[in-house]
Amino acid sequence: MSQSALAKEVAKRRTFAIISHPDAGKTTITEKVLLHGQRIQKAGTVKGKKSGQHAKSDWMEMEKERGISVTTSVMQFPYANALVNLLDTPGHEDFSEDTYRTLTAVDSCLMVIDGAKGVEDRTIKLMEVTRLRDTPIITFMNKLDRDIRDPLELLDEVESVLNIMCAPITWPIGSGKNFKGVYNLIDDEVILYKTGQGHRIQERDVIKGLNNPELDARIGDYAQDLRDQIELVQGASNAFDLEMFLAGELTPVYFGTALGNFGVDHMLDGLVQWAPTPLPRETDGATVVAATAPSFSGFVFKIQANMDPKHRDRVAFMRIVSGKYEKGMKMHQVRTGKDVRISDALTFLAGDREQVEEAYPGDIIGLHNHGTIQIGDTFTAGEKFKFSGIPNFAPEMFRRIRLKDPLKQKQLLKGLVQLSEEGAVQVFRPLSNNDLIVGAVGVLQFDVVVHRLKSEYNVDAIYESVNVATARWVTCKDERKLDEFRRKAEQNLALDGGDSLTYIAPTMVNLSLATERYPDIEFHQTREH
Ligand code: G4P
Repeated sequence: MSQSALAKEVAKRRTFAIISHPDAGKTTITEKVLLHGQRIQKAGTVKGKKSGQHAKSDWMEMEKERGISVTTSVMQFPYANALVNLLDTPGHEDFSEDTYRTLTAVDSCLMVIDGAKGVEDRTIKLMEVTRLRDTPIITFMNKLDRDIRDPLELLDEVESVLNIMCAPITWPIGSGKNFKGVYNLIDDEVILYKTGQGHRIQERDVIKGLNNPELDARIGDYAQDLRDQIELVQGASNAFDLEMFLAGELTPVYFGTALGNFGVDHMLDGLVQWAPTPLPRETDGATVVAATAPSFSGFVFKIQANMDPKHRDRVAFMRIVSGKYEKGMKMHQVRTGKDVRISDALTFLAGDREQVEEAYPGDIIGLHNHGTIQIGDTFTAGEKFKFSGIPNFAPEMFRRIRLKDPLKQKQLLKGLVQLSEEGAVQVFRPLSNNDLIVGAVGVLQFDVVVHRLKSEYNVDAIYESVNVATARWVTCKDERKLDEFRRKAEQNLALDGGDSLTYIAPTMVNLSLATERYPDIEFHQTREH
């Protein structure tokens, strides 16, 4: 394919994910985004906890039982002149390391905040992850159809808690029962809100110009209030700055209601206009691969097992970094040094799998995997580099795993190591005893692992509590000091599934004492594959 044709495809793409605290409205926004992307006819088909209808992205039986998303699905849709890839991220109590890793595979993020609640802890955590790559963030203040907090106070909170500057693009006119719409500060126009339109795409009801008398005619006293407020807002907040946005230093902010399907399209306009096209990626050789580089490359950020009980296979999710995927092409798997011909890569449309004929940088394709692909694997057209920046994240909860039948220790270890290669959980073997400790980022993963150990490895395992609060991978430039540390801190050291040395701390206080006591040792929250 010609260079200019590839560049054209790259220029169209925007690949993003949503970060939010549970219940802020991620699922509802996803649904409205798909409505605007004309991927679903009528909103309400993605999720309906109460109606018993399930999100199209709920694949596993376990998810259905619990009404939550275990899997990360990928959705592609056209919007304006762009082609948007939305990578869904498990969000409820039972989110997982995949949620974090997915954020390393996107070029921008949408942060959804419940306007009545403001910044909540999961959002803080997820923002930390986006900081690893300084990912550009767009903000959506949701639930304006309810009484929300003072908008200026919300922006202040984002700025101070999340340490990112806010540039309001739209500004709300009232909220709750008195929500009238928003004023777009850049376009100088008011877009009026109408209730009861949540399930369809609305024609925008626009009044041009803040000083337009029509505004007074339509919203009465709110018009003058708005003018006064905007004067204040323009003085008190930052103007949008594209460079700062792209550097992850400033976030454009939109207000609206996902349920009422108002404002989601304004946000999408901003996304296609400003969010980066597929970004270059760094490699271990410190070289950078641009999306428009002609030869194919990509990396695996997630492995999904048993998405469909009818196909008991695993699918590796690959983000294409450069070049073009064509059905039947040969790829070089750098870690194994093998060439593989791929003729059945998948695209995902919220659970529907389709075979893909061609795909471009920014797109996600699924590769069938019989255990030969690992998270972090790089595929190229033959080159030997490896993409960096697809880490393991330190687990946040831990349990000791024990066999019902002690004779199956070998299968248990094998199963756990394989499951940890898929990124479902991590496994730690303490240096000082024969325990096996499972660590996860989300609590549901513990159940997933027991379930899969039983069905795939025929091992019955149970959990016990264990006195571990957090883990850090440890390294030290000085071999001698590392040995000394290994001796002195043996009680708190373990090897992970890939045999990397890990400090497992019973409390956060213990961890901070250890970092003070051993200043030469580096404690890492992430580990590169
Ligand atoms: P999540 O994926 O971030 O967890 O949030 P989700 O979209 O499931 O939304 C959580 C709850 O908030 C849902 O209500 C949803 O209907 C509601 N919600 C989302 N956006 C808005 C909004 O703009 N305004 C209002 N008023 N509510 C909103 P639920 O009763 O918990 O669930 P459901 O039975 O309605 O699905």
